[in-house]
Amino acid sequence: MEDLSAIILAAGEGKRMKSKKSKVLHKVCGKELIQWVYDAVQNAGIRNSVVVVGHKAEQVMEFMGEGVRFALQKEQLGTGHAVLQAQSAIQGRQGHVIILNGDTPLIKSETIKRAFEYHIHQNNAATIITTKLDDATGYGRVIRDSAGHVVRIVEHKDATEEERAVNEINSGMYCFTISSLLDSLSKISNNNSQGEYYLTDTIEILINNGQKVGAITMDDSTELLGINNRIQLAEVEAIMRRKILNMHMEQGVTIVDPANTYIGPDVRIGNDTVILPGCIIEGNTVIGEDCIIGPQTNLVNSTIERNVEVKSSVVIDSFIDEGTHVGPFAYLRPGSRIGKNVKVGDFVEIKNSIIGDNTKVSHLTYVGDSEVGKNVNFGCGTVTVNYDGIKKHKTIIGDNAFIGCNTNLVSPVVVNRNAYIAAGSTITDEVPENSLAIARSRQVIKEGWVKKHKTNE
Ligand code: UD1
Ligand code: CA
Repeated sequence: MEDLSAIILAAGEGKRMKSKKSKVLHKVCGKELIQWVYDAVQNAGIRNSVVVVGHKAEQVMEFMGEGVRFALQKEQLGTGHAVLQAQSAIQGRQGHVIILNGDTPLIKSETIKRAFEYHIHQNNAATIITTKLDDATGYGRVIRDSAGHVVRIVEHKDATEEERAVNEINSGMYCFTISSLLDSLSKISNNNSQGEYYLTDTIEILINNGQKVGAITMDDSTELLGINNRIQLAEVEAIMRRKILNMHMEQGVTIVDPANTYIGPDVRIGNDTVILPGCIIEGNTVIGEDCIIGPQTNLVNSTIERNVEVKSSVVIDSFIDEGTHVGPFAYLRPGSRIGKNVKVGDFVEIKNSIIGDNTKVSHLTYVGDSEVGKNVNFGCGTVTVNYDGIKKHKTIIGDNAFIGCNTNLVSPVVVNRNAYIAAGSTITDEVPENSLAIARSRQVIKEGWVKKHKTNE
């Protein structure tokens, strides 16, 4: 897309969001509005793009970071004025420019490409992306002549009753030939009800100048929905969420209750995996085939290999290998690498630890900063005591070790392979291979103690 540039308008105030945050930094399905639009531009293959920022500019620039070109609109004097601030990004360039808004996250890269192809094919100076709405209140209306040719766009506030009855609306997205855009922009004024420089006025200027203007009408108007308030934010979230879920279902993932499942845009899931109700799957999570996830499970930036079950659990920045069962009610914190055919049971927390294949951590256990071998058995209530109040220390447990119930492993400590730890032990020293460690006081029996105790009362 060498001859197509993009301008994304994101300088507006977004008053109706009633937010401390820039409107375009609010999220839909975990991704910022502006990022959705920017990604669509990138995915359309457009390399020359510029984001017009103004209101809360620093926030937007900081979020998007380096590698993104910005133009600053110091005062928000209208959409036409906003595009003018970006002119240095397109001036002197051949070709065309697509103008998008930063608050329309549902726009697809295919639609950008389609609009551009249409624009080229029709040999237009400007192509407006339009759609028909049952309720067009608030939008600019596309006015056509009796032959159906676009004549101008009139803003809702400036429109007559008759014009307001038109249901074809300006989406606020357009494709312009760069030279025509710059020519016509230099001629717009702010002589309208809002005292703003309207980008939409360029349409009539171009037509009066004998240039060809067209419109491409989208059947699916949802893609063009803009977000002005939090009600629309939730509406768009619902549409986007459903799109993501449908995509996974089309690829062979069972989602039992789509109304109750939240999957981020970058998540990948293998076929025949079943997602039970109440799951939130976020970030760069990758799930293999034949898994059962949920109910009520939260996966964040984690990799789950095939044939894994994660039930009612939270997994963050972790890796789970094939055939492993996690949960219910387990918490895998960042840096956990769980091997194959492992069992991580109820009320188990694992943090920054490696757990070897076939190991069982079945109940009520905390494993932190540890390296655990294969075939290890953790009794109920084991705690790696990894923090001395100043520093974190490591626990190392060899293959086939058996850790008795209610054991404290005071780290740094090593339990070598095939060792046994007696229940109730507090282990502070290295346990050699094949040995039994008992670290608790011996039981004492005081015969008849109860009777004597009671008569003394
Ligand atoms: C605009 C269109 C309207 C269209 C509607 C679609 C104009 C005059 N009107 O109206 O025909 O139906 O979009 O949603 O263009 N912005 C700036 N700087 C400004 C003003 C706006 O960057 O000075 C940005 C906003 O951040 C937003 C976009 O431009 O991303 C649209 O602005 P907005 O005020 O929402 O325009 P509308 O009145 O909705
Ligand atoms: Ca708007």
